[in-house]
Amino acid sequence: MPANERDISLTIIYKGESYPIQTYLNEYGSLMTLISDHLAIPGFGLCCGMGSCGTCLVTINNKYASASRYVMACDMQINDELSNTQITISDQRY
Ligand code: FES
Repeated sequence: MPANERDISLTIIYKGESYPIQTYLNEYGSLMTLISDHLAIPGFGLCCGMGSCGTCLVTINNKYASASRYVMACDMQINDELSNTQITISDQRY
């Protein structure tokens, strides 16, 4: 299988800016670590993935589905489900 078939493309939206990201299965332990590796967001992921702070809440929009869903980024694996999605990070921390 060519390497690019394993690629996962997604776009992070933060403060009105779009950040296209190319990753692959298991490059990161979670969506939270991917986001933290690419963007310095004050107050994001305060409990480092322990699931107790809620500061990693993001909105996922899939271009093939009209509904948005809210997830804790630290509880979201990087897999094909995230391909071609937009991940919106609120600029309001809790
Ligand atoms: S990093 Fe704290 S709940 Fe996800």
